[in-house]
Amino acid sequence: MAACSSVLIARGSPVKNLKEAAETYRALLDFKQLFGNDNPVEAEIGCGNGGFIFALAKRYPARNFLAVELCSNVILTAMERVLREGIPNVRFLNIPAEILPCYLPERSISALYLNFSTPLPGSTHARQRLTSPRFLEIYARLLCDGGKIYQKTDCGWFFDDSLANYAACGFRVEDVTRDLHHSAYAQENIITEYEATFLAQGKPIYRCVAVLERP
Ligand SMILES: C[S@@+](CC[C@H](N)C(=O)[O-])C[C@H]1O[C@@H](n2cnc3c(N)ncnc32)[C@H](O)[C@@H]1O
Repeated sequence: MAACSSVLIARGSPVKNLKEAAETYRALLDFKQLFGNDNPVEAEIGCGNGGFIFALAKRYPARNFLAVELCSNVILTAMERVLREGIPNVRFLNIPAEILPCYLPERSISALYLNFSTPLPGSTHARQRLTSPRFLEIYARLLCDGGKIYQKTDCGWFFDDSLANYAACGFRVEDVTRDLHHSAYAQENIITEYEATFLAQGKPIYRCVAVLERP
């Protein structure tokens, strides 16, 4: 971890109380200082080993990227790769997404990526799902006007649950497909680590874009 300190900008423990965490970790980032430019900032939540963010950052050098991940082991792999390849436009936050508002200014993020977020079945875990109304409220605070959430999943019921939550929380849903790899969006798609596994199993991939519409 110490060897990756130039790209790791936040480390926080899992927290139960967001209000308490806001006081403990509050350290709003200055993106211009962080990246050395005014380019738009996008974020992936749950970046895992970082294959997706790595490819996205290479594809779009005029954008900046934040990779958020709870688990230290996997984010370490992602950071080592970015450092090894000298990718200049990615920084990492080893924190739970729940405390993102402690670090990211309101209305500062132009796009969020949710790739194969864990579905967490059952009503007891509903609040922990990364597309639950609780998280969508957080994202709505962080996203710029017209900001977008790009979601992919292999799980049909989770996808339907997410679509319902977007509609209920002020997002307009577009570019929906229930079979990404046989759709018009396949060509531009970047395959993530989990996606590669699901594809090898012959599973269809669900994909949508949720656009924030402020009243
Ligand atoms: C199923 S993996 C998908 C990894 C990667 N996005 C991919 O598509 O290959 C989900 C990742 O989200 C992370 N995660 C789950 N809940 C999170 C949260 N609340 N905040 C940040 N990361 C989270 C997990 O640690 C895990 O690495």
